Amino acid sequence: MEEKGSFWWYVTIESRGMDEEVLSSLVDLSGSIGSELVETQDKMAVKAYYRSSHSLEYWISRINEVLKPWPELKIIDAGKIENQRWHTVWKEAFPPIEIGKTLVVMAPWHKNSYKSEKEKNVLLVYPGTAFGTGYHESTQIALELLEKCMEKGDTVVDVGTGSGILAIAAIKLGAKKVFARDLDPAVLDEVKSNLRLNQISEGLVEVEQGNLLDGFNNMVDLVTANIVFEPLMKLLPSLPAKLKKGGRAVFSGLVRKERDSFISALKEIGFEIKEEASKGDWWGVFAQNTSGGQQ
Ligand SMILES: C[S@@+](CC[C@H](N)C(=O)[O-])C[C@H]1O[C@@H](n2cnc3c(N)ncnc32)[C@H](O)[C@@H]1O
Repeated sequence: MEEKGSFWWYVTIESRGMDEEVLSSLVDLSGSIGSELVETQDKMAVKAYYRSSHSLEYWISRINEVLKPWPELKIIDAGKIENQRWHTVWKEAFPPIEIGKTLVVMAPWHKNSYKSEKEKNVLLVYPGTAFGTGYHESTQIALELLEKCMEKGDTVVDVGTGSGILAIAAIKLGAKKVFARDLDPAVLDEVKSNLRLNQISEGLVEVEQGNLLDGFNNMVDLVTANIVFEPLMKLLPSLPAKLKKGGRAVFSGLVRKERDSFISALKEIGFEIKEEASKGDWWGVFAQNTSGGQQ
C-alpha cells in the first residue's frame, strides 16, 4: 500500500496529572499513527501524529470526541510536519511485536527479517488510519484471548474490525470463515489491503460495513469485539441469536472499572465467564454462550 500525502499532521495535547499510558491510549483511539511525549514547563504533553489522508479539522474533531470525558486534557498546538524525518521515525516506531504464545504482528517492511518468523503465526498489518496495529493493549488482550479460545474450523464474526487484525488472526489460527464488520466504511479498504498482505483470499473473510450485528444473518461459533463499553453493551442482547450454543465470545476495549457491570450484563444473557485478561488500564474477557442459540 502506498503512503498517502507528503506530510503528517501533528496535534499536541496537554494533560494535568494524567497517567502517561492512559494519555497514549486515548491518542491511539483517536486514530494517531504514533506519538511521543514532549516536555512543557510543568505539565505533561503528548505530540500525536496523524496521516494527511484526512484534514486536520477531521482529526481534531475525532480527538475532541475521544477527549470529551477527560476535561483535564486539552489541545494546545497543531500543524503540519514534513515527513522526511518523521517517515523513518514512523517506520522504526513499529517493530514486530509478539503477542500470546504463537502470534507476531509486524508491519510489512519487517517481513522475512524477524528471527522466529517460521515458528510463529505472522500477522502483517500496515499501520494506516484504521485502529489495530497490534500496539494497543486492548488489541493485545483480544488477540491473547482469541488464541486461547479459537477452535479449528470455527466460523467467526469480528465486530469493529478496524485494520482487520483480529479477523486475520482468526484465519491464521484456523477459522474456516470470518465476517469482518465495521461501522466506519473508511476502514474497509484497509482491511482488504491487509488481507492481501497476508495472502488471505476475499472468500475467506467477508468484509462488510454495519452497525454491530444489525442485518447479520449467520450463526457463528465465535464473536470477537474490541470496541468500547457502550456499543459492547448494545451488542450483547443480539448475541444469543447469532452465536451457536456453546459458542465463544471475546470482548475487549473495556477499562477495569467497567468490569463488574459488563460481567453482570454477560450473565444476564446466559454467558459464562471463562477467562479474564488485563493490561494497563484495559480489561477483556472470554465468555461462552451456555443458553439459547442453535447447536
Ligand atoms: C478499538 S477499534 C478495534 C479494531 C481492531 N478490531 C482491534 O482489535 O484492534 C474499534 C473499531 O470498532 C468500530 N466501531 C465502533 N462502533 C461500532 C459499531 N457500533 N459497530 C461496528 N463497528 C464499530 C470502529 O470504527 C473501530 O474500527
